[in-house]
Amino acid sequence: MINYAIVGTGYFGADLARSLNKIEDAKIVTVYDPENAEPIAKELGSDISNSLDELVERPDVDCVVVASPNYLHREPVVKAAEHGKHVFCEKPIALSYEDCRAMVDACKENNVIFMAGHIMNFFNGVHHAKELISQGTIGKVLYCHAVRTGWEDTQKSISWKKIREKSGGHLYHHIHELDCVQFIMGGLPKQATMMGGNVAHQEKDFGDEDDLIIANLEFDDDRYAVLEWGSAFRWGEHYIMIQGTKGAIKLDLFNCGGTLRVDGKDTHFLIHETQAEDDDRTNIYHGNSIGGMDGAIQYGKPGIRTPLWLATDIDKEMAYLQYIMKGGEVSDEFAKLLTGEAALEAIATADACTRSLNDDRKVKLSEIIGE
Ligand SMILES: NC(=O)c1ccc[n+]([C@@H]2O[C@H](COP(=O)([O-])OP(=O)(O)OC[C@H]3O[C@@H](n4cnc5c(N)ncnc54)[C@H](O)[C@@H]3O)[C@@H](O)[C@H]2O)c1
Repeated sequence: MINYAIVGTGYFGADLARSLNKIEDAKIVTVYDPENAEPIAKELGSDISNSLDELVERPDVDCVVVASPNYLHREPVVKAAEHGKHVFCEKPIALSYEDCRAMVDACKENNVIFMAGHIMNFFNGVHHAKELISQGTIGKVLYCHAVRTGWEDTQKSISWKKIREKSGGHLYHHIHELDCVQFIMGGLPKQATMMGGNVAHQEKDFGDEDDLIIANLEFDDDRYAVLEWGSAFRWGEHYIMIQGTKGAIKLDLFNCGGTLRVDGKDTHFLIHETQAEDDDRTNIYHGNSIGGMDGAIQYGKPGIRTPLWLATDIDKEMAYLQYIMKGGEVSDEFAKLLTGEAALEAIATADACTRSLNDDRKVKLSEIIGE
């Protein structure tokens, strides 16, 4: 039996807990959340810890799952590691390279597993795209274009997800696309440039994140990527386009489906596990959902359940965590998620983009990672 403790049981933490608890030899033994611990503890029959210290000090906890707001990840990860607990941490791992480094190092020093919650790596379509690329089907990848855009209207209240200091804004909060592009490109770019700002949501009801950002990444060997995020786009899109010398792949998460194009011939594949899941995602984006999610920029909140497609990917991700906890071997595909490398690389590039925007110049990654 592997015993888990959850830090932060809002929208996502509660479903991570439910997913783990479904596994036969896994159990949620305790949860800590200053506001939302009770319903999930009752549902799963777990204890409630009254503080983070109480949670990490429990001898029966094997692994701590951190799903608190983005700016509150460092303390639980470091404390868990210092108490000899393995760690799964939600994305973005941190809001600065310095914090991310401290978290990954604490896990290394204490000889515990650190798994980054970069869930896109568990999407069927992302796995398939990586496979096609490694088989040489589209040749050398020259360019990736990632877009995650939509329009946001005033919400009932301002979520922490809209406050730059707490979420990091779209760049950090939606780091999935950056992580995915860097997995495809094989690692860090040489340098980054970012432009943008808060261009259409300056009223007091909208938080203070930038609502339109465009990052340009320059990789070695004449390879490039452009990533766009924001909530100032009346025509929303969500995709990753991968352009190779022999073919191209589009991972469309908006009109959900994957396409491989070689010699003018298109082959289609699923992004998630079933056509029903892909259709579910398309419906949500087109505003046909009854799940309470904003069609353009999807945000959950405590008490809301994850949609069908995401629940399946959570199950895959949590099953993988359990497999690793039981001594399973790390495959090459997921190695970077378990060495801290994917986390560090994603945050390093996000920091380079942030510095570029603030200083109005190109920023070399070596400035951030100090090499
Ligand atoms: N992988 C994904 O696709 C995905 C999707 C959604 C959220 N997330 C990540 O999961 C994390 C949680 O997001 P969410 O959507 O569940 O947000 P949420 O606001 O629904 O839940 C956050 C919870 O953390 C609790 N909390 C606040 N301060 C805390 C503290 N100091 N210690 C413990 N808990 C605390 C809050 O009371 C709340 O219940 C974030 O890092 C987010 O980026 C990942």
